[in-house]
Amino acid sequence: MMQHTYDSLPGKPISLWLDTTPQTNFPSLADNLYVDVAIVGGGIVGLTAAALLKEQGKTVAVLEAKRIVEGVSGNTTAKITSLHTLIYAYLIQHFGKEKAQIYANANETAIQQIANFVQDKQIACEFRRTAAYTYAESDEEVDKIHDEVEAALKLGLPASFTEETPLPFPVKAAVRFDNQAQFHPRQYLLALARDIPGDGSHVFENTQVLDVSDDEPCVVTTNRGTIHAAAVIVASHFPFNDKVLYATRLKPHRSYVLAARLAEPVPQGMFITTDSSHTMRHHSGSDGEFLLVGGEGHVPGQDGDTIERYQRVEQWAREHFNVKSIVYRWSTQDNRSLDRLPYVGRYSPVSHHVYVAAGFGGWGMTNSMVAGMLLRDLILERENPWAEVYDPNRINLKSVPEFAKQSAQVAKHFVGDRLTVTDTVERGEGKILNTEDGVVAVYMAEDGSLSALSPACTHLGCFVQWNSAEKSWDCPCHGSRFATDGTVIHGPALKNLEKVNNSFIEG
Ligand code: FES
Repeated sequence: MMQHTYDSLPGKPISLWLDTTPQTNFPSLADNLYVDVAIVGGGIVGLTAAALLKEQGKTVAVLEAKRIVEGVSGNTTAKITSLHTLIYAYLIQHFGKEKAQIYANANETAIQQIANFVQDKQIACEFRRTAAYTYAESDEEVDKIHDEVEAALKLGLPASFTEETPLPFPVKAAVRFDNQAQFHPRQYLLALARDIPGDGSHVFENTQVLDVSDDEPCVVTTNRGTIHAAAVIVASHFPFNDKVLYATRLKPHRSYVLAARLAEPVPQGMFITTDSSHTMRHHSGSDGEFLLVGGEGHVPGQDGDTIERYQRVEQWAREHFNVKSIVYRWSTQDNRSLDRLPYVGRYSPVSHHVYVAAGFGGWGMTNSMVAGMLLRDLILERENPWAEVYDPNRINLKSVPEFAKQSAQVAKHFVGDRLTVTDTVERGEGKILNTEDGVVAVYMAEDGSLSALSPACTHLGCFVQWNSAEKSWDCPCHGSRFATDGTVIHGPALKNLEKVNNSFIEG
């Protein structure tokens, strides 16, 4: 395998979606104001919920700390499907047929609702219906495919068993779902965002929410002013203001994507292996045809060098497809819940007017629409049949072993990370150094200048780790990420890493 450095990694380091759409320029909050619903986070959940609530006559304000649709929603692979790798046999086994049916119905309804938005709003976003496949690479996995097809058919899903897929290599077996969809997520979401401002509703960028109080009305404190709202939706990917509740119930997961041009026809459809280790989809737009290939998932800040992860995705792509060139590379992050069901509903058991949506486990396109529709109904005090299954405050004893594992993992990082220190740093590299003044996260830029930071994550104090492929400091506990100057890139941390005097370092 060819060894890469950061500079020799293939492809432009930006998602295809971000590179082919204009940057947004919504205003920042300038005055204190009142709206019916304040929404924290300008990604797919926030914008979907805002669009659905505005349709019902509510005034909304979407509050984004940076620019909308540049975080996880701008870096997804954008598969709109209810085939979530292998989930229905698991759901029937662990939750019973009735709850599995609700999850199936919710996600199929979401596909149709996205299609309705595209049609009603005439959104040019390369939306197309296509099939989704989960395929087995070995004989041992074929039974899992049979089980999933059987479970999905019991729930009335558009499933079938097949040994043939459009992929240019043989598979052992696959579950196929028909009439699924894919799109260009930023084209779609920027169109939703354009329709939100007006008639008392707003989209605010560069407006960081600092605090939310669950009162009547709720008070949303930002770095630009205060918003009062009858209800608040926290749609900040990892709930931004959480210290306890979600920190022990969400596990961050990071993975890597390449957009490649092929010297052969790009297979039509969306594909994933049974263990989710590799994922693919076709994309065609005015910029030509691409195959998106992703994989190499891991907990951010853990499990080795991230440059090697891109290398392994590239090697896998070249072994399985006739790759002509790699045009883009990017990475993305999602959070997994303990029992594989997202958390959508009231923020905590004692919340009255504050709601949350989180933990989509990599299946955010349909689940974000489910979240938007469910939160709309909860806020409008309408019945919604999905509420119990998605309830963030559900008590499910089956999650307890996973909960204990996640807490133990976090505890390990509080203690163990303090021992992983070294004492040299190269240009373009970050390292945790053990100095006479304590442990410091040091980055040396290409020009030799140094930035020295406290490695203690400002969320709950775990030590950050260097991410070589993205040049960032990533926290292994709940997935916060920081730039080389310590600025927050990704929450739940709200504050930048603390700067440290670097006079102790010999240049
Ligand atoms: Fe929670 Fe770092 S301690 S993200």
